[in-house]
Amino acid sequence: AIDPISEDQYVLVVGGLGYIGSHTTWELLKAGQNVVIVDNLSNSYRDVLQRLQLLVKDHYKGHSNVPQLDFYEADYRKRPAMKAILERYDSLYTLKSTITSVIHFAAYKAVEESIHRPLKYYSNNVAGLIDFCDLLDTFSIKTLVFSSSATVYGELANKGGRLREELTSHTTTHWTDKSGSTRTTLSGCTGLTNPYGRTKWMSEAILADLAASDREWKIYALRYFNPIGCDSSGVLGEDPRGTPNNLMPIVVRVMEGQMSELSVFGSDWDTSDGTAIRDFIHVSDLARGHVAAIAAGTSTKSLPGFHTINLGTGNGSSVKEVVDTMQAVSGKTIKTKASGRREGDVGVCIADPSKAAKMLGWTPQKTLEDSCRDICRYLDTHA
Ligand code: NAD
Ligand code: WQD
Repeated sequence: AIDPISEDQYVLVVGGLGYIGSHTTWELLKAGQNVVIVDNLSNSYRDVLQRLQLLVKDHYKGHSNVPQLDFYEADYRKRPAMKAILERYDSLYTLKSTITSVIHFAAYKAVEESIHRPLKYYSNNVAGLIDFCDLLDTFSIKTLVFSSSATVYGELANKGGRLREELTSHTTTHWTDKSGSTRTTLSGCTGLTNPYGRTKWMSEAILADLAASDREWKIYALRYFNPIGCDSSGVLGEDPRGTPNNLMPIVVRVMEGQMSELSVFGSDWDTSDGTAIRDFIHVSDLARGHVAAIAAGTSTKSLPGFHTINLGTGNGSSVKEVVDTMQAVSGKTIKTKASGRREGDVGVCIADPSKAAKMLGWTPQKTLEDSCRDICRYLDTHA
């Protein structure tokens, strides 16, 4: 059983107007949670806030108890600005913050760019996170859900089989502190091919150290596999600034005629059709995983410490299957061209999602077809 969060408490969502952040905010609001978003719009648009407000208005029509949605345009690395925002949520009665948990999405995520501009990535994804956790600590806000990635498995994915959390490219050290409690820290890493991946690995290691140093912290590093799709309303979507790098946004651009063809990176992988296999997870399922992690983290029965949890389906689809499914659902042709393998890619990457089911009571519900259908609805709505 999960303790309900009372009405006057908030979840702070940093990076909440981005692709996964906006979907998570919407699932939190549907679950009746008040949300405070901080986003600097570096990879999102203010318009997403209006869409979230519309969804809330529609969903809660005729209800008196409508959850609150607050927004601040700010860079989460700017400490004075963040401090001023957090101070607004201090309770006058308990002197504690009414922000009881935080979800951190605010990071840069373009693998290729991270190779050319590593400092940009280490600054935002790692240095930013360190300072932010330090600030949260001063407000005694110590429940954090962090966006990690299947990228931390690095080349372990090439060994085959579904990836389990304890298999990670971290070497895990267990030790016993003075009180006799077992602590876990992470040391060493192997097979990470790019700076972006290393920012996620480093962030996990830092958060594990933080949780080991102070038992009040409850930290959930959710390792996303390949998020795709969008909310079934067709109101929220994936709308990055600049040129996309991930498969699905490129498939969509080709389908819509904004790009001439999809280069399929590798047709010689050891898979049934030769194209690479990924564990594609519908973003609304992924978003519900965050709601479950917040519920677990704010429950009085929750375990303190640092927890890594895969969010994937446990099933793989090939690049060719993604293209075929999108063509079948949309009725449109997606032109493809066979290209060589992309540097740093692995052939197969599939989650073992059983820990999420056990710890969070979370299981994904949606299929690849659902993702394609929801994307088509979003495109129709925004044509
Ligand atoms: P996104 O770029 O759509 O969202 C990130 C949001 O954070 C954007 O709205 C951006 O404007 C904001 N942001 C970035 N830096 C900020 C800063 N300094 N201050 C305030 N706001 C800032 O990305 P997404 O796909 O929603 O990914 C969210 C998180 O999940 C990221 O940490 C990413 O690394 C991680 N992740 C994404 C994927 C994926 O395939 N999309 C997979 C695994 C992990
Ligand atoms: C999927 C498959 C490509 C584009 C990346 C990050 C990972 C995580 C999710 C954030 C691969 C193939 C792609 C194209 C193609 N992000 N592809 N043509 O590489 O599994 O993971 O995003 O944490 O860290 O590395 O996702 O969507 O880029 O690629 O053939 O134009 O599609 O080669 O096999 P990936 P992806």
